[in-house]
Amino acid sequence: MTRTTNTPAPARSAPALPDDLDRLLRRMRLPYLRAAAPDVIATAKAQRWDPAEVLRVLINEEVIGRDAATRRLRRKTANFPTGKTLATWRPDESSISAATQQALSTLEWIGRAENLAVSGPSGTGKSHFVEALAHHAIEADLRVAWFTLETLTATISRAKADGSTARTVTRICRADLIVVDDIGMLPAGQDAAEAFYRIVDAAYERRSIAVTSNIHPSGFDTFMPKTLATATVDRLLHHAHLITTQGDSHRLQQALAGKGVKALT
Ligand SMILES: Nc1ncnc2c1ncn2[C@@H]1O[C@H](COP(=O)(O)OP(=O)(O)OP(=O)(O)O)[C@@H](O)[C@H]1O
Ligand SMILES: [Mg+2]
Repeated sequence: MTRTTNTPAPARSAPALPDDLDRLLRRMRLPYLRAAAPDVIATAKAQRWDPAEVLRVLINEEVIGRDAATRRLRRKTANFPTGKTLATWRPDESSISAATQQALSTLEWIGRAENLAVSGPSGTGKSHFVEALAHHAIEADLRVAWFTLETLTATISRAKADGSTARTVTRICRADLIVVDDIGMLPAGQDAAEAFYRIVDAAYERRSIAVTSNIHPSGFDTFMPKTLATATVDRLLHHAHLITTQGDSHRLQQALAGKGVKALT
């Protein structure tokens, strides 16, 4: 029997586990195995399973349950802005070529600690696409940290104030993919440029950074201090996939088509 979920099938007739076994499983912290055990044991008895199979199915339940819990936690700590995934992404409506979309969604570039810079006009799907890839990375058991330049700056500035900058940068760089969304929407002062530099420098050739911006990275020095911008972009682009989006804003198209809101009742 192959079970695919960590939720045991409702088997009201399956007898509860003996108290001592239940206690042992709690003590060993095997919650998913414990939840599945009554049902698995009842099925195993009825179908005369090999004992090794019983053990395998039970341990598998625990592994599946733990993996799913880890992914749930990672999704939460990633701090995603909208929850948009590839499921709602329409590849043919994007100006990013199908081949590029496909290649990026293999996530192999994250394994190689390469970066991704998506630039283009407002509403052309930059944030949606990167968030979809980032969700996909979590499903592939990777870790993601999502920031805007403002939230990154606030995080690093707070750390600076209590002397924990190095620790904070190290913690952020535990993620396999660090996203800095919507760079260049607002002018970035010394603090923002410094925060961005610290992360790009710490992640350089070790972790992947994905940025989205209305401005091509070569123009980042137009809205942040030049020296820091140059050093940051130099590192960011050394091993980077540079993608530009084109076209009209999806937001505007949807608004004009009357799809931006639900009709009032
Ligand atoms: N190819 C697509 N498939 C599905 N939805 C899309 C696509 N492209 C854009 N959208 C939708 O259009 C809206 C705008 O997209 P998004 O926020 O990703 O734009 P952006 O390029 O990041 O814009 P900005 O520069 O203003 O931040 C979102 O609601 C997004 O879900
Ligand atoms: Mg955006």
